[in-house]
Parts: sequence; C-alpha cells; structure tokens
Amino acid sequence: MNILITGGAGFIGFHVARALIARGHRIVAIDEMNAYYDPALKRARLAEIGANPAFRFVEDDIARSGALAEAAAGECFDVVLSLAAQAGVRYALKDPFAYTRSNLVGHHNVIDFCRQHDGLAHLVYASSSSVYGNDTVAPFREDARADHPMSYYGATKRAGELLSYSYASLYGLKQTGLRFFTVYGPWGRPDMAYWSFTDAILAGKPIPVFGGGKLRRDFTYIDDIVAAVVRIVETPFIGTAGEAPHRLYNLGNHRPQTVTELVAAIEAATGKKAIIEQTEGPPGDVNETYADITRASRDFGFTPAVKLKDGIARFVQWFRGHYGR
Ligand SMILES: NC(=O)c1ccc[n+]([C@@H]2O[C@H](COP(=O)([O-])OP(=O)(O)OC[C@H]3O[C@@H](n4cnc5c(N)ncnc54)[C@H](O)[C@@H]3O)[C@@H](O)[C@H]2O)c1
Repeated sequence: MNILITGGAGFIGFHVARALIARGHRIVAIDEMNAYYDPALKRARLAEIGANPAFRFVEDDIARSGALAEAAAGECFDVVLSLAAQAGVRYALKDPFAYTRSNLVGHHNVIDFCRQHDGLAHLVYASSSSVYGNDTVAPFREDARADHPMSYYGATKRAGELLSYSYASLYGLKQTGLRFFTVYGPWGRPDMAYWSFTDAILAGKPIPVFGGGKLRRDFTYIDDIVAAVVRIVETPFIGTAGEAPHRLYNLGNHRPQTVTELVAAIEAATGKKAIIEQTEGPPGDVNETYADITRASRDFGFTPAVKLKDGIARFVQWFRGHYGR
C-alpha cells in the first residue's frame, strides 16, 4: 500500500513507519520537526530508517494550508495515518495555542485533504486516553461520555474526534481514531516521566513525584502499539450499516500501574536508587488511566504482551546505548 504518515519523525510515527516499510509498504512521511523536545532525536530516528526507496520524508507543517497536497506531490495514497500533534498534558498550560494549531487546525487540514483525495480507503488518526476525565468509570470504555477532559490537550484530542466524526457523517470519509494510553519504549519521548526519571536516576539527580506516587497509568509498550496500528492500517475499514463510518478504539495495556511501580522498574533496570522529591503536580493530570480493550481485541486481536518491568528494561538498555551512559 501507499501510505502517508503525519508526525512520521515522532516516537510512534517512526516505529510504525519502520514496521510498515519492513512489510513492503511505501511511505511518505511529513513532520515539521518542531522543538517541543530535542529535534536531534527526531533526526536520529529518520537516520535510523535511512535512505530507502520506500520512504520519502517531507519537512512541513500540517497546519499550513496546502502543505499536505504539496507533500503528496501527485501521489495517490491508500491510507493516511495521522499521528502529528502537539502532545503532552502539562505543556498545554504554557502554550495552548500550539495545541490549537496542530491538533485542531492541523487535524482539520488532514481530514479535508483526505476528503478530497481520490481513491483513499481509510484515515487512521491518533487520539488519546486524555479524552477521558476524572469522572470516567474505570476501565474506560470507548462509549463512555468523554466531555470533561482534565487538560486542554485532552480537549483538543476530543475535539479532533468530533471534527472527524463530522467529516465521516457529512462526506462518508472512513476513519478510525486510536486512543493511545501512555506509550513508552526505545526512541521514546523525553517529555514523558519514564524518560525524564531514567535520565535523572542515571545522573544521580532527584525526581519529582506527584500525588505520593499513587497516580496510575496504563503504561503500554511501543511494540504492542505498533502491532495494533499495523493491523488496523492493513485491514479494510468495515463500518456499521446506518452509522457514519467513524470508529474509536482504546489501545492500552489494560493493566494500570502506579508511578511508584514505574520508579521501581527503572531502579531495577538501571541498578540505581531513585532520589524522590514528593511535590504537588500542576493541574491537568488525571488520577488514573485504564483502557477497556474489548473492542480492539474483538476486531483486531489486540493482546498487549509486554510487562512494564520488561519494557522499561528494554527502554533503559536503548537509552544507555544511545546516549553512551
Ligand atoms: N506517546 C503517547 O503516550 C501518546 C498517548 C496518547 C496519544 N498520543 C498521540 O499519538 C500521536 C503520536 O505521539 P508521539 O508520542 O509519537 O508524539 P511525538 O511528539 O513524538 O510525535 C508527534 C510528531 O508530530 C510532529 N508535529 C507536531 N505538530 C505538527 C505539525 N503542525 N505539522 C507537522 N508535524 C507536526 C512533531 O514534530 C512530532 O515529531 C500524537 O497524536 C499524540 O497526541 C501519544
């Protein structure tokens, strides 16, 4: 298949692109390479894919009108996989407009590009567990009301789902939205706790822990996510008769664990003791995320397999090798 990936230099985009190339697909990736975290890491991911006739990279901003059509350069895509976004719950307190730009304007450009793209079979796009609020009953089901997000990030992701639903309903654009739950692993994101904790623990520096370490996250290993996304991209869209062609799936480990357990896993993998500083977290974090994965298991055989301690061990091994620490 010919596939356009937005956010192709990002953590999940890079891993999925690599897996799809290995399975014989052709990829065009677009990414603006912004400096939300070190762009050198994004460049290193692209270098890891390397020069490959099945991969073409375009540096551009999906929120810029015309950027996607220019990136396509006349090519026809079977599937668009849209992962570009301003991610992160806390940074939204500093720069909410970055979220409006990428997650609302950018997402609207993606669905409008797809609507006009002849022959496109399916748009698969990233949403987030952050659409659920503190009032959602765990485990979170896709049909739970999701109209009380705790963060502006979650609000833009939920809004993106609604924009998508509208295009499905108005124009028949076939779409699948994926609510990812705290994805971690090698080549991951420096803004996330597992990364910054590993970095600090290896340097003998203290780590800030919110809420007494009791916040629970459904930590999901990248290989489990990649397997699911590849399966969803490769499977023709099947909708429900009489409904707009728009589906939502939780992709999470279905096994929430506390931040204290995360720290213990990093300590075990690094062989170093964490220096913990208990602090009050900023607003925006939910107490718990916990995916009900009945839908993804039923439709795509989604069965996350990697345990937190094993996934963290693999991440720490990669981190030490990559940064020589
Ligand atoms: N990693 C997680 O735990 C997680 C959890 C829930 C949802 N998600 C969602 O999954 C997707 C991928 O996340 P990730 O962890 O790979 O994040 P990431 O930040 O590593 O990747 C996103 C990429 O999108 C690019 N980008 C942002 N705005 C853009 C724009 N306007 N134009 C072009 N490129 C732009 C960034 O440069 C970045 O490389 C995002 O939509 C994110 O919101 C991720």
